Formats: sequence, C-alpha cells, structure tokens
Amino acid sequence: MFDAKQFIEEALKEIKNTVGEKKVISACSGGVDSTVATYLVHKAVGPNLTAVFIDDGLRRQGEPEFVMETLKNLKINSKFVDAKKEFFATLKGKTDAEEKRKAFRERFYKTLGTVSKELKIEFITQGTIKADVMETVKGIKSQHNVLEQIGINPQSFGYKILEPLKELFKPEVRKVARELGLPKQISERMPFPGPALSLRVLGEVTPEKTAIVRKATEIVEEETAKLGTFQNFAVLHNDKATGIKNGKRLYGNIITVRIVDSQDAVTAKAREVPYKTLMLISKRITDEIESVVRCLYDVTDKPPSTIEFE
Ligand code: XMP
Repeated sequence: MFDAKQFIEEALKEIKNTVGEKKVISACSGGVDSTVATYLVHKAVGPNLTAVFIDDGLRRQGEPEFVMETLKNLKINSKFVDAKKEFFATLKGKTDAEEKRKAFRERFYKTLGTVSKELKIEFITQGTIKADVMETVKGIKSQHNVLEQIGINPQSFGYKILEPLKELFKPEVRKVARELGLPKQISERMPFPGPALSLRVLGEVTPEKTAIVRKATEIVEEETAKLGTFQNFAVLHNDKATGIKNGKRLYGNIITVRIVDSQDAVTAKAREVPYKTLMLISKRITDEIESVVRCLYDVTDKPPSTIEFE
C-alpha cells in the first residue's frame, strides 16, 4: 500500500539534500503533477524556489489566471512568462503529431532555459510521473517533459532536473496532493497534456484554431463537470464538413467530443454519456461557435485508440 505521508517525508529529505542552498525553478502548469512537484520543492527549499508559469497561448479558458492565483494562495514565489508568440511561431507549418510534440518540447525547454539564466538557477523541477516515462521509453509518445530517459542531457540546456514524482502513478500523486492539503481543484484536477490544446487542434496549430477548440473545451467541461470522468475534452478536426448556418451552406469546422473513464491513463473506456447531455453539448458547440457545423462523439476505448487524438 502506498504511504503518502512517508513518501512526502522522504521526498522532502531528498530534495533538501540534492538542492542544498542553490536556487530552483519549477515549471508549473497548474496540473496535479506539476503543482504537487512544485509544492514539495517549496516545502523543502522555501524562497529558493520560483514557480514559473509559461503562457504558451495553448491553455484552457481562464487557466493562466487560475494557476497564478493558486500559486499566490500557496505563498509560492512565482513568475509569469508570456511566450504565446514564440510557441505559435514554433508550431507554424507543423502538422505531424510527433513533430508538433517535439517542437513544443524544444520551445518549452528554450523558454525555461532563458528563465533559468535570468534567475541564475541550477535546478529545474518537473512533475514527470511514471506513465510519462514509460510511454516515452516505449516509443508510444514523446511526452514533453521526459528528457533523461530518452538520452537528452538536460545539462546541454544549462541546468539539472529534479523529478520528485517520477516513481509515482497518477492515483498516488493525487494521494500526495490530498496529504499535502492542496485544494481539491488541484488534487482532483482533470489531467491535461503538457502540450495543451496543441494536441487538440489536429494538423497545424494557429491562434484562431486554438480559440475554437478552447471555446469547445469550455462547453464540454461545463456540461460534463458532474460526470466524474477521467478526462473530458473537445478536438478540432483538420477537415471541414458541409453544414447550414443562418439558412446558408457553410463549409465549416468539425469538433469531436471525448469523455473517458480511466484509472491511470494506460487504458481507458469511452463513457456512455446520456444522449441528452451529448445533444446539449452538440447544440451549444454549434450554436456558440460560428464556424462549427458538426459535432461528433468518440466511442472508442484505449486501446486501440489513445486518449488524445494526437
Ligand atoms: P494517450 O493519448 O497517450 O494519453 O492515451 C495518456 C494520458 O497522457 C496525456 N498525454 C500527454 N501528456 N504530454 C503530456 O504531458 C503529451 O505529449 C501527452 N500526450 C498525451 C493524455 O491527456 C492522457 O491523460
């Protein structure tokens, strides 16, 4: 049985031993993994930690504000980095899923590298968990936060990596979050991929397409908040479909909604959502987003699908 209390004690000791009096930053996206990792390091080294939130322009509605507010409430030193332009420039013209992930990762580490030079730090904390390492090593997907495991030396970016959660799976991270007394909005937070909405805009990512999937995501999350599912989201297709809006033919966008149950993201089952809920989501998405003419529901399990489309 996993003992969260004991894990915390040992992790704090190890972080203190490794970091000593040196300065650390933590890449905090507001997800349960990176927030728990950030909070552990904060408990271990206090003001020597600065949590860094990178606004890549790919976050969900209200997310940058939520993360900065959470860090403030937890009394963690924090820094907001606006890198929207740089991320969109990096993703421009890229259509392949893995190429997009790699481009995201490269930009992510370059941005952190710039911040680490500015703040003269030696360590970067990341919320890498065991599933990230496993899937990257197996070659299923290159998680944006796994470096050492795939033979990239983080020192080539100018710093060392701290990954206090890398032996844990998601349910254990949640136990640690609860034991640490983090707010429920964090400990029970729905998983959200590091490369964020870039994986949910199929094909090339642009600010305009991101805005469409952001709005659709907001609607899906609002209408499914009470389902207690593992992950609920919207995906914007790269293709178009014929529809009718305001009495006129419109060759418009397609959104797929995905709502899955899972324990650890290794396998997943599409939820049998009440038809009424699906109809409401479809109606809202097509009513509230001008360019969307078609809304689909994905009933495929993992495997053979993955949870994300890309
Ligand atoms: P898949 O799509 O592989 O997703 O079934 C499993 C879990 O991982 C998340 N995911 C990612 N997380 N970087 C991340 O940090 C990524 O590149 C990435 N791809 C998938 C996904 O949302 C799900 O929770």
